[in-house]
Amino acid sequence: MIEKIKNLIFQNRFWKSVFRHGMPVNTRLRSEVVTSNLFLHIHPVKVYKDSLRFKKTLGLGLISLYLFFILCITGILLMFYYIPHVQRAYQDMKDLEFAVSFGMILRNMHRWGAHSMVALVFLHMCRVFYTAGYRQPREFNWGVGVILFVCTLALSLTGYLLPWDQLAFWAITIVVNLIDTMPIIGDDMRYLVVGGTLVGQNALIRFYVMHVMVLPLITSMLIAVHFWRIRKDGGLARPEE
Ligand code: HEM
Repeated sequence: MIEKIKNLIFQNRFWKSVFRHGMPVNTRLRSEVVTSNLFLHIHPVKVYKDSLRFKKTLGLGLISLYLFFILCITGILLMFYYIPHVQRAYQDMKDLEFAVSFGMILRNMHRWGAHSMVALVFLHMCRVFYTAGYRQPREFNWGVGVILFVCTLALSLTGYLLPWDQLAFWAITIVVNLIDTMPIIGDDMRYLVVGGTLVGQNALIRFYVMHVMVLPLITSMLIAVHFWRIRKDGGLARPEE
C-alpha cells in the first residue's frame, strides 16, 4: 500500500516537474538535489566536516546575515509609521513608542539589531583575518567584505539621523562638519550629502532614501556575491592550505 502511494506521488508528472531528481539515496542523487535547487545551490555539493564546526567560524557571518534579515523586516514595518519630514519625524517616533501596539519593541529590535550588526560584522572580519581567510584565492571576497563593512557603517549612520532628535541632529552635524574639512572636495561633498549648507529637510530626505533604498539594495547584492564567492573559492579556508 505504502509502496503504491509512493509510486503514485513520485511518478506523478507534476511532482517530477518540481523535483527533477530521485530520492537522495546515493552521492550522485544527493549532489543533484543541491545543484537543481535555487536555495540549496548556495551550498557547495561537498563540504569539509571541519568547516561545519562551530568553533571554526563562531557563526559570526551567519549571525550577521540573520541580523540583516531582521533589520529589513523591522525596517519595512517601521516605514508604515514614519514620515521623513522635519515637522513629523520626531513625533512619529514618539507615537510609535507610545501609541502603536508593539511599537516600542519594533523600534528597539531595529535599533539594537543595527548596533549588533555593526559589532558582529566587525568580529566576523576579525575572525576571517585571524584564520587567514583573506589569503589566495579569497582576496576578492575579502574586498567584497570590506565594502560590506562600509555599507553596514553607512546604514548605521544614515539611520541615526532619521528620529530627528537632538542627538541625531548634532551627531550628523558633526559628521557633516568633518566632511567639510576634506581638502579640495570638502565643500562639494558636504553640499552633496546634505543637499544644501545646513542639516535640514534636504538632508533628512537624502539620508532616508539612502537608508531604505540605496544601501539595502547594494548590501543585498554584495551579500549574494559574497556567498557565491565562498562557494566558488571551495568553501571556507582550511589551515592546511
Ligand atoms: C553583511 C556583512 C557580512 C555577512 C552577512 C557575511 C557573511 C559570511 C558568511 C556566512 C561566511 C561563511 C563563514 C562564516 O559564517 O563565518 C563568510 C565568510 C567570509 N567572509 Fe563574510 N560576511 C560579511 C562581511 C564580511 C567582511 C566585513 C569581511 C572582511 C572584510 C568578510 C570576509 C569574508 C571572507 C574572506 C570569508 C571566507 C572566510 C574563510 O574562508 O574562512 N565578510 N561571510
